[in-house]
Amino acid sequence: TKPLRIALAGLGTVGAGVVKLLDANAALIERRAGRAIEITAVSARDRTRDRGVDLSRFAWIDDTADLARRDDVDVVVELVGGSDGPALTLARATIAGGKSFVTANKAMIAHHGLELATAAEAKGVALKYEAAVAGGIPVIKGLREGAAANEIDHVFGILNGTCNYILSTMESPSVSGHGRDFGDVLAEAQALGYAEADPSFDIDGVDAAHKLSILASLAFGATIDFDSVAITGIRHVKAADIAEAAALGYKIRLVGLGEATSKGLFQRVHPCLVPVDHPLAHVTGSLNAVVAEGNYVGRLLFQGRGAGEGPTASAVVADLIDIARGETGPAFGMPVASLAHLPAAPAGER
Ligand code: HSE
Repeated sequence: TKPLRIALAGLGTVGAGVVKLLDANAALIERRAGRAIEITAVSARDRTRDRGVDLSRFAWIDDTADLARRDDVDVVVELVGGSDGPALTLARATIAGGKSFVTANKAMIAHHGLELATAAEAKGVALKYEAAVAGGIPVIKGLREGAAANEIDHVFGILNGTCNYILSTMESPSVSGHGRDFGDVLAEAQALGYAEADPSFDIDGVDAAHKLSILASLAFGATIDFDSVAITGIRHVKAADIAEAAALGYKIRLVGLGEATSKGLFQRVHPCLVPVDHPLAHVTGSLNAVVAEGNYVGRLLFQGRGAGEGPTASAVVADLIDIARGETGPAFGMPVASLAHLPAAPAGER
């Protein structure tokens, strides 16, 4: 069988991780996928930076959008980021050209996922984005399968590794973060490769809101509605707040919550007081967790590493293995035309 040929746009933390993972696990991936998965072309802003991996064997393409048009490419992987701009241009061109598209770009899926899924359906190609939500946790596939036969009325979780790293580092007397400045701990999260290129997306809750709107769509079988998410980030959380919460038996976590009620769809992201014996209180560092409750399946809890090179690259490569096997199923668990339009619940009502 012919190898599946990949173009990779973006060689940051996750892109370099994908190259390393495809190299390191090539044999087992080929066995499981039924064919080899090979990168043929790459594009990245910086050609010279040492990423700890040999990139000289790939064709380097200047204009990212050209990756969509190459004869030696079957699937384009987009790890550039940004809801619009080059990432969206590449996504549209790839799908219009009849190639499958894999992305870790939650901002783009939250804003343009339905348009891209509609185009992918029309072309019979795959649009896959497992890496866009909760890094290494297979929560897109997990929730899609878990929700498939169930009525789900709420989904919630810890969806941003950077914020969780900051909050849990600030609360723990046993690690060097105790009592430390917010900015220092953020710099650490950036150095570990967790933060967005613009870390205000993390800190202000926008990244978690992107992910929540995607999860709500999957959980409720509804169209994505990012604009109605009420968002408060963690910028104003102080070490003293964390200490006070601890004295009362709580941890502070940035939580995203979606609820489908008779009044409509509630979606919000804000810091929450979580009782110390709640599963979310044990989610520390770059871990993420997602909880959904179905009327037949009961409570589902997904937990794992939500950010960083290895976990996120794992999710990207898992999507590639699906495509290598010929899986091009609908991006949101059902055709876009079958998704419900849930009105946003009026603000302040529950
Ligand atoms: N900046 C994101 C986070 C990366 O911290 O969770 C993973 O999506």
